[in-house]
Amino acid sequence: MVKICCIGAGYVGGPTMAVIAVKCPSIEVAVVDISVSRIQAWNNDVLPIYEPGLDEVVKQCRGKNLFFSTDVERHVAEADIVFVSVNTPTKTRGLGAGKAADLTYWESAARMIADVSKSDKIVVEKSTVPVKTAEAIERILTHNSKGIKYQILSNPEFLAEGTAIQDLFNPDRVLIGGRETSDGRKAVETLKSVYAHWVPEDKILCTNLWSAELSKLAANAFLAQRISSVNAMSALCEATGADVAQVAHAIGTDSRIGPKFLKASVGFGGSCFQKDILNLVYICECNGLAEVAGYWRQVIKVNDYQKSRFVNRVVSSMFNTVAGKKVAILGFAFKKDTGDTRETAAIDVCKGLIGDKAHLRIYDPQVSEDQIQRDLALNKFEWDHPAHLQPAAGEAAKQVSVVGDAYEASKGAHAVCVMTEWEEFKGLDYGRIYEGMQKPAFVFDGRNVVDVEKLREIGFIVYSIGKPLDPWLKDMPAVA
Ligand code: UDX
Ligand code: UDX
Ligand code: ADP
Repeated sequence: MVKICCIGAGYVGGPTMAVIAVKCPSIEVAVVDISVSRIQAWNNDVLPIYEPGLDEVVKQCRGKNLFFSTDVERHVAEADIVFVSVNTPTKTRGLGAGKAADLTYWESAARMIADVSKSDKIVVEKSTVPVKTAEAIERILTHNSKGIKYQILSNPEFLAEGTAIQDLFNPDRVLIGGRETSDGRKAVETLKSVYAHWVPEDKILCTNLWSAELSKLAANAFLAQRISSVNAMSALCEATGADVAQVAHAIGTDSRIGPKFLKASVGFGGSCFQKDILNLVYICECNGLAEVAGYWRQVIKVNDYQKSRFVNRVVSSMFNTVAGKKVAILGFAFKKDTGDTRETAAIDVCKGLIGDKAHLRIYDPQVSEDQIQRDLALNKFEWDHPAHLQPAAGEAAKQVSVVGDAYEASKGAHAVCVMTEWEEFKGLDYGRIYEGMQKPAFVFDGRNVVDVEKLREIGFIVYSIGKPLDPWLKDMPAVA
């Protein structure tokens, strides 16, 4: 029986290994983590992450060929293939701070593998890492090898949160990068045979190591670039009276462009896009490619602009002050169908409104109060570092309360801001919400989920990203 061990039981490692286990009954899969609470949760009824379809997959194979454990060293020692899916945060200090990936966790995982291994291993990079990380890891392993042979593969994961299980069951492609030597090719074939249990052969792409590593950064950069492009258009739509949804549809029907990933929003979030682009920028700079770095940096700048533009809209529409005003925040996760808040646009928007002294009442169907308070207390780039290095919830807490539904959030509020496109926000009784609010009642829709015409009929003043402006907003001072 082939044994697989995955170091890191997070958003990527957990679902990916669960799907490998369910599709490959002949393979034993152990997912290990240093976090005791995380492993406990994986072994419980309530899993540590919310992901549609994940519960069923885990229930089918947990205890049979899928195990969650904190006994990292034993499972690594026993495995033939070791996936490494640990966090790679952005560095907060030192060389490359605010841009480069912090490979501390990766390096310690690699040293541990070298320490405990007694048989040859295939080590697979699963977490997104800077290009040429494989080479560094290879050096750590071979310089500490005690005669054991290691093959390093890069096998970046392309799943998106909220659709992870469906993405893993039916991936557009699986990418495997390896050394172009006979041992390298053999390792690639071994990993390929794992995926071949359910992925058609023509969808398994094999490349050299550096192509695989760079493709992951490039794919995320291209995806994020589409959003920044459509968001940049949304600002121009508001200025001219065009409707961004109509423009996106018209653009997307060109088969060279395609219809997906063209939804204007208050800004992209998630653990990958910003981090990977910053990383790409850093790699370009290190290679003397200043123009290329500048090109990609602009994608992040437009994303930041989109978030601050939204805050400015809220403040300027409400007579240039939100001090002491109650603002309902609907949705806090970075997209629907996940409880993940990493890099969510809601954090920057909330911080902006708190900075202007607003009182926020926040509701999200999947995010806990504790998580929201912690997110609002964190500084940039701290979110992916261990909890003991993070500050406690501070000043923000006084201006923020977290409530159990959208009606409670909006009761007595001056404005409602939609931050996440949860389905339930489309079907809310906006008439009831209007009745309970202060007048004039404002809705600022950062996700184009509300029916603008219907809400205006009810009496709301409505702002929706990239849509023709409410006459009220047109009269307000221009947004910087
Ligand atoms: C373009 C648009 O495609 C068309 O829809 C619009 O109506 C007019 O402008 P055109 O300029 O005739 O058409 O040719 P196109 O095929 O788009 O190529 C434009 C340039 O991009 C060419 O120099 C082409 O060589 C280059 N190109 C195109 C690339 O370098 N790489 C590509 O992948 C595609
Ligand atoms: C992304 C990539 O899609 C995935 O391939 C990679 O493995 C990890 O990073 P994820 O961050 O989980 O996945 O979600 P994604 O669906 O890509 O959304 C990212 C952000 O972009 C979200 O905040 C989402 O709301 C936003 N978005 C997405 C838009 O604003 N408009 C769109 O049209 C699409
Ligand atoms: P991702 O979204 O990439 O899956 P997460 O932060 O959700 O990232 O998961 C990474 C996991 O890796 C965390 O649960 C963390 O505890 C774990 N981890 C980090 N370093 C190690 C290590 N050296 N050994 C085992 N687990 C580790």
